[in-house]
Amino acid sequence: MPDDIHFYEPANGHGLPHDPFNAIVGPRPIGWISSQDADGRLNLAPYSFFNAFNYIPPIIGFSSVGRKDSLNNIERTGEFAWNLATRPLAEQMNQCSAMVPPEVNEFELSGLTPAASKVIQVPRVAESPVSFECKVTQIIQLQRADGNVVPSWLILGEVVAVHIAKWLLKDGVYDTPSFNSHLAIKGWGVRHRRGRTDSARRRASGLFPAGA
Ligand SMILES: Cc1cc2nc3c(=O)[nH]c(=O)nc-3n(C[C@H](O)[C@H](O)[C@H](O)COP(=O)(O)O)c2cc1C
Repeated sequence: MPDDIHFYEPANGHGLPHDPFNAIVGPRPIGWISSQDADGRLNLAPYSFFNAFNYIPPIIGFSSVGRKDSLNNIERTGEFAWNLATRPLAEQMNQCSAMVPPEVNEFELSGLTPAASKVIQVPRVAESPVSFECKVTQIIQLQRADGNVVPSWLILGEVVAVHIAKWLLKDGVYDTPSFNSHLAIKGWGVRHRRGRTDSARRRASGLFPAGA
């Protein structure tokens, strides 16, 4: 092994002050996921193990590391909404990651407004300029290479309706470059495991890609 390469096998530890995995696979967009329980109680939480996986039909997914309220809700209702987290919404997005009981409504907690969706029952975030209404397609419990399951779940959903604020459409083209303000994240796992998730300011300092 050349001296200029740090090599490790994750099962045996990374040998560094912090696990670099999350930061290497980054920056990632945020899955800001709204859901509701069977009684209609609302939930909103950020997920950075998030991405798009198919074009036609559009499918997005996120991973719940541990059994969380979003997963429980989505298993029961089969629906969720994704909301674009923009820089002006970063503070409120952070507040939604608080570990609170299922009955706490993170829309209220963070001062955000639920807006009725058109196809699904779950509301979207009115303040967010883009939202997807999604119906669950698969919920997959993750497993190791040896087949042993781990307490993480990949939740995949078909995007059945899309809301785009018109200021993001320039001559009908979605204006991706204007997403210098788009919220992306690297290294969430490190900060989360180090117990600093309630420090919005510190966390926010690592949220944005260079130049954003
Ligand atoms: C920026 C950010 C990204 C996060 N990404 C994830 C993630 O990918 N998976 C996960 O399980 N938790 C993630 N979390 C933590 C959850 O947001 C947190 O556990 C939250 O309380 C879950 O809410 P829920 O129980 O209402 O679903 C993230 C937190 C922050 C602040």
